[in-house]
Amino acid sequence: MNYQKSNAYSIRSMFSSIAQEYDRANAILSFNLHKLWNRRLVSLTSFKSRKVQVLLDLCAGTGEITRAWLQQTKSPLQAYLLDFCPEMLNLAENKLSISSKEQHKFNFIHANAENIPLSDDFVDAITVAYGVRNVHNLDQCFQESFRVLKPEGCLGILELTSPENRFLKMLHQFYLKVILPRMGGLVTKNKKAYEYLCHSIQEFVKPCQIKEKLLKAGFNNVTIHPQWFGTATIIIAKK
Ligand SMILES: C[S@@+](CC[C@H](N)C(=O)[O-])C[C@H]1O[C@@H](n2cnc3c(N)ncnc32)[C@H](O)[C@@H]1O
Repeated sequence: MNYQKSNAYSIRSMFSSIAQEYDRANAILSFNLHKLWNRRLVSLTSFKSRKVQVLLDLCAGTGEITRAWLQQTKSPLQAYLLDFCPEMLNLAENKLSISSKEQHKFNFIHANAENIPLSDDFVDAITVAYGVRNVHNLDQCFQESFRVLKPEGCLGILELTSPENRFLKMLHQFYLKVILPRMGGLVTKNKKAYEYLCHSIQEFVKPCQIKEKLLKAGFNNVTIHPQWFGTATIIIAKK
């Protein structure tokens, strides 16, 4: 199957097919660098936001970002994990029920990030890691994020991007086009999913264009933080 971002059903079925192996594949394919980036996303978002008691993790997947929040917070957290793939959310539920203390509360929302079923001014912070690249209508997702955030709350985005430096870009292309689909295919038995990943990183809008979209949705104070020579980028936007 060839996966298309414009077709939510196609993206959802791709994530269902790799859900069981998703965490293991991530660790191998990113050389565990994603854990570092995840922690950085959480620390930058919480640093710039109001005190985070209610969190929304969009495109939550297997709950890795929520877990990073739990590791970095001392106070009780009410976390809403939203994803349109039930298989990924089930894994998140199992993982968080095993690893977290009772003081935290989790809510699992099976929905599209373009229509967030929460009330206005409801959450202190939103994170979305490796997710916006898959969202068909990004403007609507940002408008919805703005709506549900409390004033002074922050949206933190972490996404895989391409480095600007020409030499690094060449190496990065080689990794994306040759190594990633083969290794991803070996681990998850779904090479097409990792071809889609390569394609989606190359085709995705640049961080400065995401910034434009965030400003258009009403956010201010948008900052861009490249990680590892631009192979990943964190963007923080304040309401
Ligand atoms: C690459 S995974 C990232 C998961 C998690 N954030 C992490 O850091 O491991 C992307 C997740 O986004 C979800 N997703 C993609 N598009 C979505 C959308 N429009 N609405 C809700 N979830 C979406 C997929 O189901 C998948 O679980």
